[in-house]
Amino acid sequence: MNSAGIHSLEIDVREKAVEAASGLTTIEAENAFALSVAETKTITATIIAREKAQAVKKNGLLEIVETKESLNSIGGLDCLKDWLVRRKDAFSQRAISYGLPALKGLLILGLPGTGKSLTAKATAAVFNVPLLKLDAGKLYGGLVGQSEANLRSVIQTAETIAPCCLWIDELEKGFAGSKSSGSTDGGNGARVFGSFLSWMQEKTKPVFVVATANDVSQLPPEMLRKGRFDELFYVDLPDDTEREAIWRIVIRKHRRDPNEYDLRQLSRVTEGLTGAEIEAVYLEAMFAAFERSTEPTDLDIASVLNGFVPLSRLMAEQIEGLRKWSCGRARPATSASPTSERKLRKLEV
Ligand SMILES: Nc1ncnc2c1ncn2[C@@H]1O[C@H](COP(=O)(O)OP(=O)(O)O)[C@@H](O)[C@H]1O
Ligand SMILES: [Mg+2]
Repeated sequence: MNSAGIHSLEIDVREKAVEAASGLTTIEAENAFALSVAETKTITATIIAREKAQAVKKNGLLEIVETKESLNSIGGLDCLKDWLVRRKDAFSQRAISYGLPALKGLLILGLPGTGKSLTAKATAAVFNVPLLKLDAGKLYGGLVGQSEANLRSVIQTAETIAPCCLWIDELEKGFAGSKSSGSTDGGNGARVFGSFLSWMQEKTKPVFVVATANDVSQLPPEMLRKGRFDELFYVDLPDDTEREAIWRIVIRKHRRDPNEYDLRQLSRVTEGLTGAEIEAVYLEAMFAAFERSTEPTDLDIASVLNGFVPLSRLMAEQIEGLRKWSCGRARPATSASPTSERKLRKLEV
C-alpha cells in the first residue's frame, strides 16, 4: 500500500475510535484507550465500544448482546441484506458530511423461525457497533410514572452509547403489555408507547432501532406509519434457493461439511420448513447418528422428516393472512424468484 493509502487507513481507524468513544467522560475515554492499547497495541474501536457498553449494565432494562452473527450467518433474505450493506457506513463522519439522513431503524415482520432475530443480531455487525437489547415487557409496571421514567432511561443510555443498535425483539409483545395495562392504569402503557414513537420520529442520535414482530395484527397502525422506521421488511418461508443456502449454513454451523450432502435434494424435501425447523431437523439427525456412533447422513435427515409436521402446515391461515397484509405494505426480504411467484399465485386463488 502506498503512503497515501496508509494515511487514509490511519484516519479511518482514528475516526472509528473517536466515534466509539463519544458519550464517555474524558477519564472513561482515557481508560478505555489505555486498555485497548494494552490489549491490542493500538486503539481498537470495538474495545472502546465494549468498555462503553459496561455503562448499560447499570440499566436493568437493557442488555448488551455479544454475538458472532454476521450477514454470512443468514441464508437467503437477499433484499434485506442488500439494504443493510448499502447503509453499513451510514454512521460515519463521511456519511454525515455527505449529508445522508440519520438512520432510524428497521422493522422485520414474519413467521416465527424465519431468521428475524438472527438478522437483528447481525445488523450490529454490519454497522460495527454494540448491540443493545431492550426487554419491552419490562418497561411497564411499578409506580405511577415509573414506565415513562424507564423509557427515558433506556433512551438516555442508548443515546450515550450511540452509535449503537437498539434491538426490540417481538415488538408486538411489548405493545400487547401496554394495551392490556391501558385499561387498568389510565392509559399509562399507551402513553409510554406514544413517547417511544415520537422519539423514533425525532431522534437525531445514531441509535439504529431494529425491531422484529411475528404478529402484525397486534401492532398499532401508528407504528407502521412513514417516518418511524426507515423500512418494513416481510420475511416469508424460505424458497428453494434460500433453503439450500440455509442447509449449507446450518450444516457448517454444526461442524460438518455441506459437500457431504445433496443440498439440492435436502432443499426440495424441506419445502414449507422455516430456517429454525431446518436446523431442528439437522440436530435430530445428529442425535440419531450419534447413537450409532456414525456421522449424520441424508438418510438420517430423510427419516427425521418422515414424521415432521412443519409449523407452516399448522399455521396455514395465519401465513396467508400475514402475506396478504404485507402485500403493498412491507417490502419482501427476498427478491422475486420462481418460487415466490408461485407463492403469489397461491395467494390469488
Ligand atoms: N434464514 C436463515 N438462515 C440461517 N439460519 C436460520 C435462518 N432462519 C432461521 N435460522 C436458524 O434458526 C434459528 C432461529 O431463528 P430466529 O432468527 O430466532 O427466528 P425468528 O426470530 O424469525 O423467530 C437461528 O438462530 C438460526 O440458527
Ligand atoms: Mg425471534
